[in-house]
Amino acid sequence: MKALIKIGGSLLDDATSRHGLARQIAAVSASGIQVTVVHGGGKQMTRFLEERGIKSTFVRGLRVTNDETIDAVLKVLAGSVNTQLTAALCAAGARGVGLTGIDSGVALADQLDPELGFVGRVTSSDPALLNTLTVAGYMPVVACVAGGAKGEVFNVNGDSMAVAVASAWKTDRLVFLTDVPGVLDATKTILPVLTVADCAKLIADGVATGGMQAKLDAATNAVTHGVAEVRIVRGSDPDIVARVFAGENVGTRIIAGDRS
Ligand SMILES: Nc1ncnc2c1ncn2[C@@H]1O[C@H](COP(=O)(O)OP(=O)(O)OP(=O)(O)O)[C@@H](O)[C@H]1O
Ligand SMILES: [Mg+2]
Repeated sequence: MKALIKIGGSLLDDATSRHGLARQIAAVSASGIQVTVVHGGGKQMTRFLEERGIKSTFVRGLRVTNDETIDAVLKVLAGSVNTQLTAALCAAGARGVGLTGIDSGVALADQLDPELGFVGRVTSSDPALLNTLTVAGYMPVVACVAGGAKGEVFNVNGDSMAVAVASAWKTDRLVFLTDVPGVLDATKTILPVLTVADCAKLIADGVATGGMQAKLDAATNAVTHGVAEVRIVRGSDPDIVARVFAGENVGTRIIAGDRS
């Protein structure tokens, strides 16, 4: 079985959280499941830019990315966040290999919107490198940075990157580890199962906004492109990764068909 685990940046900031998740993910891999990890790092990016007196501007939840920002993306996302996570996974016994989408076409992108600068939309994903690594027992750890056809570097939303890679690599399960216990309704109650239509309604009604809107867009895209199971859970809950892989009904499950 193949699983793609996407880790939200806020779960990687703190060493205890990072090492705890790394141990759980290494255990999934030791159980015989092929695992690829994709991670974000928005919080770390904002902090790095702030420290240099650069204000982050967002348009529809996406960070406007100029030359200065893309340099920070490489230093922070592809640099420290990716390397620290890979180090934690290796310390936990996994054979982690730190990559970005630029390596061997794992994620090729073009410009999403000129207004956003170097923000990319993934147009294709070549699964060859991921197959080679995972078949040989390595665990790819991919920062959400994509390459352009002319050698450009694009900043890509981690969730859409995870989905593009998951569909190309033919993942059976896609798990989003985030900072909320699942998708919440207007009364802040967890919604255990959502269809594609439910997700669209939550967005249209303004209940799922910002990062969760992007996640639901990505999740519905995944289930309509053959990923059998998509789950959104809180990465800081105890033993969360083990519980998801044991089949427990935690967090929110996104399904392709009807709820019946
Ligand atoms: N209906 C909703 N249910 C749950 N969370 C929601 C909802 N609407 C908006 N959100 C927001 O979405 C956030 C999760 O998305 P966010 O992009 O911040 O995290 P991530 O994708 O896990 O991390 P990263 O973007 O660093 O990879 C929550 O912290 C919450 O503030
Ligand atoms: Mg996000």
